[in-house]
Amino acid sequence: MNPEVQALCREIRPYLSARPHYVYVRTFGCQQNVADGEKMLGMAVEMGYVPCDDPDRADLILVNTCAVREHAERRVLSVIGSFRRLRETRPGLIIGVTGCMTARTARVEQLRRSYPYVTFTLAPGRLAEMPRCILHALRRIAGEQRGSRRSFCLPDDAASVEEGLPVLRAERHRAWVPVMYGCDNFCSYCIVPYVRGRERSRDSAEIVSEVRGLVSAGVKEITLLGQNVNSYRGSCTFPELLEQLAALPGDFLLHFMTSHPKDASPALIRVMAEHPTRVSSHLHLPLQSGSDRILAAMNRRYTLERYRGIVRDLRAAIPDASLTTDIIVGFPGETEEDYERTLDALREFRFDLVYAFVYSPREGTVAASLPDAVPEEEKKRRINRLLEMQATISAECAQRHVGKTLRVLVDSPARVGDGDVYAARTSQNKLVHFHSPVDLTGRYVTLRIDRADAFALYGTPVDEPPARD
Ligand code: 5AD
Ligand code: SF4
Repeated sequence: MNPEVQALCREIRPYLSARPHYVYVRTFGCQQNVADGEKMLGMAVEMGYVPCDDPDRADLILVNTCAVREHAERRVLSVIGSFRRLRETRPGLIIGVTGCMTARTARVEQLRRSYPYVTFTLAPGRLAEMPRCILHALRRIAGEQRGSRRSFCLPDDAASVEEGLPVLRAERHRAWVPVMYGCDNFCSYCIVPYVRGRERSRDSAEIVSEVRGLVSAGVKEITLLGQNVNSYRGSCTFPELLEQLAALPGDFLLHFMTSHPKDASPALIRVMAEHPTRVSSHLHLPLQSGSDRILAAMNRRYTLERYRGIVRDLRAAIPDASLTTDIIVGFPGETEEDYERTLDALREFRFDLVYAFVYSPREGTVAASLPDAVPEEEKKRRINRLLEMQATISAECAQRHVGKTLRVLVDSPARVGDGDVYAARTSQNKLVHFHSPVDLTGRYVTLRIDRADAFALYGTPVDEPPARD
């Protein structure tokens, strides 16, 4: 562990020793944030806090924020607002805000002024500062030092890669492993390069050793994370990294996301094809728009034809590959004609799943100052029609799994049905529901797929469920 973090955590422990102190972490947004949230929890436990899932009981509340769309920011602010009453009744409560919203001076200023009960903010890439912020607050709460308990930790332009932070993972059978941080692509609509900073890759030796450790601890599926994994530049390229990881001994599967079409290489597809049992044959390849004019305005740096080439190569190498994408509708200047091109692209590529978003202007991005905003009503109409059309395509694509026998990793009891329904994921990350009288969470199970709809597959175990440990 990072020795400085460890020393600070030790200094905090005596402040928490009189009674159990609880920590509650609420994470919004992407998987990168989920991975950060697991580090925050890991550090809090190292300090002596006990995790809980009820903010009303917590002594330390950490809100891990997302700024990618306005809707996400509004939800975050309403959750932070709901903690006001907790601070009123519990003066010793510490509330920390982390994640993408805290990277911008204007937002931090807003939190400082309008949410005076927020104890500290911590920009992405500065998680290692968390123990220092908490110790600072605890000393002032204990009356050992005078002055404000609050601290605001803005982005560090020289941000490097943070290694050696403790992690407390939510699941024992799956793990997120960031391979790089930040983004240099500056897609014109996107806030990420401004809040997560410049691209930094982790050293491949660190990643290999983390994955080796996870596999020997019994983790079965590992998702490698980055805003654009294909621009990974550790001591090797991303396909080379995948190859090194695929060569490790053990029974495990690698997933990865996200891939940018401008950098998706034949080498990546080759590694996927050569390691079918080690590397998931699922590619998440955000298209964003089917119109070359809009793709150029988005600064995506590929054309529909280039995208088509990647899909062709993928399906030639792995006919059964799963392909998913992100789409934005209502980008400034998007005409009905451009929108129709996007619908055409969805019909052509037949994605297994589409994550569609209404364009949300983000202050400071190039697109935020473009003319010809699409009216909100029109954006809604476009997304609804797109989702409706895609639901039919997704349902049709899912039929190809019906009748197959698939090995799936069981995640948890499903939040549907009558109690004995479990949610699992196929090697292509497709959701499957099945009935089981015993809890098989964290186990591989073989299912025969009986039917499928746009959202999930439905299967029946074909073997006796394996005995529990
Ligand atoms: N408005 C709408 N969607 C956005 N995304 C990123 N920025 C915005 C924005 N300003 C979407 C993109 C990206 C996904 C993670 O979020 O589709 O791929
Ligand atoms: Fe945003 Fe584009 Fe970077 Fe993705 S690749 S995080 S959409 S700027």
